[in-house]
Amino acid sequence: MVFATYANYTEAHVDEYAANIIATRGIKPADIQGFVNTIKSTVKGLTQEQLQAWNTKQAYIALGFLLQSAALEGIDACPMEGFDAAKFDEILGLADKNLKAIVIAPIGFRADDDTYQFYKKVRTAKKDLFINV
Ligand SMILES: Cc1cc2nc3c(=O)[nH]c(=O)nc-3n(C[C@H](O)[C@H](O)[C@H](O)COP(=O)(O)O)c2cc1C
Repeated sequence: MVFATYANYTEAHVDEYAANIIATRGIKPADIQGFVNTIKSTVKGLTQEQLQAWNTKQAYIALGFLLQSAALEGIDACPMEGFDAAKFDEILGLADKNLKAIVIAPIGFRADDDTYQFYKKVRTAKKDLFINV
C-alpha cells in the first residue's frame, strides 16, 4: 500500500469532499455551507507547505488503521519510511495525478523461514511511555 496526499491541495478538493458528504447523506449544499466555508477559509490561510504537513499526518492516521486492521485479520504489515518518494511518484505515475507518496506499508504473510518472526518484540515499558498527571 502506498499512502499519498495531494501534491497541491486546493479549494476544489474541499468541494469534492463536500459533494461526497452531500451525495452520501442526501442533503442540500446549503446544509453544510457553513462547515465548507470554515474549511475553505482554513485552507486559504495555509501555505501549500503547511497543507502538505497537515495532509501527511492524515496519511499516517490511515496508515495506523491499516496496521491495526491487518493485525486483527492476522495479516502481516509493517510501516516503511526512508524510501525514495520521488521515484515512487515517478514510477507509479502519482505525480501526473497530483499525488505525492508519503509512507508505504507492504501487506501479506510472513515466510515460514523468516527468522525475525521469532524475535521477542521490543516495547517501551508502560511506566516510561505514559505520563500520569
Ligand atoms: C525499508 C524499511 C523501512 C522501514 N521504515 C520504518 C519506519 O520508518 N518506521 C518504523 O517504525 N519502522 C520502519 N521499518 C521497520 C518495520 O516496519 C518494523 O518491522 C516494525 O517497525 C517493527 O515492528 P514490531 O516491533 O511490531 O515488530 C522499516 C522497515 C523496512 C524494511
